[in-house]
Amino acid sequence: KKRVLSGVQPTGSLHLGNYLGAIRNWVAGQANYENYFCVVDLHAITVPHDPTVLAANTYTVAALYLACGIDPNHATIFVQSHVSAHAELTWLLNCITPLNWLEDMIQFKEKAVKQGENVAAGLLDYPVLMAADILLYDADLVPVGDDQKQHLELTRDIAARVNYLFARNQPPILKLPEPFIAKAGARVMSLTDGTKKMSKSDPSDMSRINLLDSADEIRKKIKRCKTDPIRGLVFDDPERPEANNLLGLYQVLTGQTKEAVAAECAEMGWGQFKPLLTDAVIATLEPIQQRYREIMTDLTYLRGLLKAGRDQAATVANATLERVKLAFGYALL
Ligand code: TYM
Repeated sequence: KKRVLSGVQPTGSLHLGNYLGAIRNWVAGQANYENYFCVVDLHAITVPHDPTVLAANTYTVAALYLACGIDPNHATIFVQSHVSAHAELTWLLNCITPLNWLEDMIQFKEKAVKQGENVAAGLLDYPVLMAADILLYDADLVPVGDDQKQHLELTRDIAARVNYLFARNQPPILKLPEPFIAKAGARVMSLTDGTKKMSKSDPSDMSRINLLDSADEIRKKIKRCKTDPIRGLVFDDPERPEANNLLGLYQVLTGQTKEAVAAECAEMGWGQFKPLLTDAVIATLEPIQQRYREIMTDLTYLRGLLKAGRDQAATVANATLERVKLAFGYALL
């Protein structure tokens, strides 16, 4: 079976973009692959973080993986900081990654601008840690949203560079992964600005639908979300990014084709469309929230699962780390 690895950061609340762009696709493919799903808590401290909520957020994300339908029989669920090989491989990769590759990363530039003076070295290094996450598991496929494409390309470049530097004309040391970016849902946009992506770090909670929002909050957010005064809703009009985003959401949530939604909504006004979208969101999130509450009533089960996940993940990751250390020329005992 091909191997899949992906992860979500335990920063703030997970939203519809994280679900539709990533987790939903993990669930859809899980039976066909050998899966590793990581809660990437080392990434979560690359921007200033609150130590009093990190652990709780980590459990929340792991519980949401299960609540969204990840099946522990198909997938290893673990926490990044529990497997020390992630940090160790990052160091080795740091030392062969040209600085200017990192300075070219769009996400770094965007986040660095927001941080002003306070940019940590770890923020620049974020994509090297992500490369380590993926390369440690010899992952074939990495299901992510559209915003991670550049990080995946960098991961491939880093792997190719290791192979070139230390295994020229030999079997490769690291496997080059492929991104898996689904057509629908790969870029969910903000509810308050259809040209910006939905994001955990947007200061306005009205800009996103969190997976744990109540039905009332969801209703309110969709009622107030940005639209336009035009009647008749269409996809792909560059002048109408909100219409494109909301129709796209409706399409993935109801599992319809784009053509079917385009036909259904061609004559609609917003007043008619918004309740339909609201119902579709609530119908998707309610069962997830129900399962989430059940899992969180007693953390014993979740902790046990994460311990077993750590052991399984460490076995695979440590073997890769050994291989890389050997290739770098380290004195292994
Ligand atoms: P994070 O936590 O920011 O995002 C988690 C996943 O959600 C996707 N995503 C979106 N998809 C569609 N529309 C949106 N508005 C939207 N916002 C976020 C992201 O593309 C991502 O798939 N760097 C990763 C975390 C990571 C990782 C890894 C991923 C660390 N190591 C190894 C894969 C493999 C990230 O952005 O997380």
